[in-house]
Amino acid sequence: MPKMRCSLCITTLFLLYFELAVTRLEQVPPPPLPILPLPSFSQLKWQQRELIMFLHFGVNTFTDSEWGTGHESPAIFNPVGLDANQWVNTAVDAGISLVILTAKHHDGFCLWPSKYTDHSVIRSPWKNGNGDVVQELVDAAKARGIDVGLYLSPWDRHDPRYGHDLPYNEYYLAQLQELLKRYGGVREIWFDGAKGSNETNMTYYFTDWFSMVRELQSSINIFSDAGPDVRWVGDEKGSAGSTCWSTVNRTSLSIGNASIVDYLNTGDPKGTDWVPPECDVSIRQGWFWHKSESPKKLSQLLQIYYASVGRNCLLLLNVPPNSTGLISEKDVHRLREFRKAIDTIFSTNLAKECLVKASSQRGGKEGGFGPENVLDDDHLWTYWAPREDNHGEGDHWIEVRAGDEGLRFNVIRIQEAIGLGQRIKKHDIYLDGKMVARGTTVGYKRLHRLEGGVVHGRDVRIRIRESKGVPLISSIGLHFDPFWHPKRQGPK
Ligand SMILES: *[C@@H]1O[C@H](CO)[C@@H](O)[C@H](O)[C@H]1NC(C)=O
Ligand SMILES: *[C@@H]1O[C@H](CO)[C@@H](O)[C@H](O)[C@H]1NC(C)=O
Ligand SMILES: *[C@@H]1O[C@H](CO)[C@@H](O)[C@H](O)[C@H]1NC(C)=O
Ligand SMILES: *[C@@H]1O[C@H](CO)[C@@H](O)[C@H](O)[C@H]1NC(C)=O
Ligand SMILES: *[C@@H]1O[C@H](CO)[C@@H](O)[C@H](O)[C@H]1NC(C)=O
Repeated sequence: MPKMRCSLCITTLFLLYFELAVTRLEQVPPPPLPILPLPSFSQLKWQQRELIMFLHFGVNTFTDSEWGTGHESPAIFNPVGLDANQWVNTAVDAGISLVILTAKHHDGFCLWPSKYTDHSVIRSPWKNGNGDVVQELVDAAKARGIDVGLYLSPWDRHDPRYGHDLPYNEYYLAQLQELLKRYGGVREIWFDGAKGSNETNMTYYFTDWFSMVRELQSSINIFSDAGPDVRWVGDEKGSAGSTCWSTVNRTSLSIGNASIVDYLNTGDPKGTDWVPPECDVSIRQGWFWHKSESPKKLSQLLQIYYASVGRNCLLLLNVPPNSTGLISEKDVHRLREFRKAIDTIFSTNLAKECLVKASSQRGGKEGGFGPENVLDDDHLWTYWAPREDNHGEGDHWIEVRAGDEGLRFNVIRIQEAIGLGQRIKKHDIYLDGKMVARGTTVGYKRLHRLEGGVVHGRDVRIRIRESKGVPLISSIGLHFDPFWHPKRQGPK
């Protein structure tokens, strides 16, 4: 017995020694401190979606209008072929993981059977008044594993309580509770500040509404001009500012205030709140389906993609179902083309096989913060970090070095490790010593589509001229976009 005890004791000692040795070997420098403000868990998940689909659908779909009057008869709502699976399949095929439906638009007609009004699907001939568009969308999304968001218009041109603060706010809040209690997880809720020109007195109790949303849904992002989670980008063209901070001061924002659109478009480098922007735009001219309209051309959609996703934003692309209750074949086709184009451009990173060098790296060679991190598939938590010593601004650079044959590309992609804050204020890009692009902010994703067209060369250097603290770059891509044909400037 004692013999066995002894061997046990030797084993324990050996294990202890081994563990210590291993611990020593694995010791790496910690990540740098974050620069506040930071995204929340839900905001970070939202940011990685890149594309969201908006579905404008309701009585306007049947009256060829954009703003209903509120006097529409529910009898006109009869989408006999409605198939929410077709909407969701269209979204999934386009790489979209969140679809937002207009549960109620300004006309006041509700796409779900609300207890608080009969101006809804209940009085329509569709499914003999037993239909529920919200439920059908929720079921279809669940079946394909994607998420749902909702828009409930504050402006209501039908309900007689509208224009009377207390009764209308009670009505609105009651509907909000119905939507957020009945249908499971809702990932985004969309608010705007639109009001009737005859009812400018109407006050929306946003503080009460937002508190109720938080109480009922834990993983939701609240969208409005002023956040709190996601802000409007300030236009309906799908275009963010070429400088675009995810940070703003919420105290400078108010909902429905036209004088803040420029601030919304660019954000604020000194902003104390993380409220990233969302770019809403329609695939067609209008938000609702009109027989006479067609989807935008692929080149326009790509332009929008570069100006939104390529500038640290999310693209909320509206695709309106038609009066049959289906997304028209033309739009399905265009979305497929759009997805295919994005994949063609970005699925190949020409930098992947290249050598990467940087001005310095945190913690030395084995520190885990080397420049090679910008070529892996993690675009958040592995990144290149330079040393934090006395390097002045403008001293940080990272360079992609190709072999002798060089590279041909026309798009440069840069991504910051935004989990530790948005930092970069100014950057320049050089190809073999010649500047090919310059920009300001980067954020989650910055795409430079080269104005001069395709370039050919060996060494691509990204120089960070100004940043809050040290820059942290999580991904770099060099891409070839065959759809990009910039017009030549001047005589050639
Ligand atoms: C505003 O009220 C006037 C007078 O009642 C009416 O003629 C007009 O149509 C109303 N405008 C809107 C946008 O409701
Ligand atoms: C708006 O408010 C003013 C002052 O309280 C009141 O006199 C006016 O009747 C209101 N207008 C409407 C359309 O409710
Ligand atoms: C609109 O925004 C401007 C600029 O921030 C501000 O001065 C003004 O008070 C705001 N107006 C309202 C009604 O909130
Ligand atoms: C935002 O808030 C910060 C901190 O209080 C301040 O320094 C900055 O000037 C504000 N931005 C604007 C546009 O007021
Ligand atoms: C709606 O789109 C579907 C699918 O393309 C099509 O079959 C149907 O005819 C369209 N309805 C109308 C009214 O255009």
